Amino acid sequence: MELASHSLFIAGGIGITPFLPMMTALNSGRCRWTLLYFAKSRERAPLLDEVEALALCGFGELNLQLTGQNGGHRFNLKAALTGLPEDTHVYCCGPNGMLSDFLSAAASNDLPPDRVHVEYFANEIEAATDGGFTVILQKSGKELIVDPGATILEAVEAAGIAVPQSCLEGLCGSCETRVIEGIPDHRDMVLSERDKQSGRTMMICCSGTKSSRLVLDL
Ligand code: FES
Repeated sequence: MELASHSLFIAGGIGITPFLPMMTALNSGRCRWTLLYFAKSRERAPLLDEVEALALCGFGELNLQLTGQNGGHRFNLKAALTGLPEDTHVYCCGPNGMLSDFLSAAASNDLPPDRVHVEYFANEIEAATDGGFTVILQKSGKELIVDPGATILEAVEAAGIAVPQSCLEGLCGSCETRVIEGIPDHRDMVLSERDKQSGRTMMICCSGTKSSRLVLDL
């Protein structure tokens, strides 16, 4: 990375991970940085305590955008990349949709390519697609069989139920769904270990079940 006099980081959820050592290095080099950090809620913002501690060192500024609040309004990334100091380096890491919005915003602001950086972060845990279990959608009064090869989200959508979604790989938290009964087989990178053990919610884009039947609040 560049020890530029100013850096702008844009992170979505677990996409914050590669930026921590970079912000630490910038603090050591007494270089200024700004972090735009998107998460559904403070509880769903990984490493938030560490980020806040780094921002308190005097060189960083944290702009936390909680997407689960205020109706989840769409943030204007193009505006965030407008009027930056001349030598600012910009970095983005998050779900694919965020990365492509970022690259379009950088291009439309004519930012020089050597100052635009994308960090890819993937969930290396495979999605649960063994299928062969029953999902009850309590609110909708539907009962589904999830077939082998399909995720729960795919089965739910095939039944005509819309669920908020974005990354489809357990990174963003959009598809978080309350579990009423059953034992989820968590495959996401959003929930903490404690949340996973509680089994109260799950990311249905990638997680499956350890029980033969799941009842979801859908
Ligand atoms: S759609 Fe992103 S975690 Fe499920």
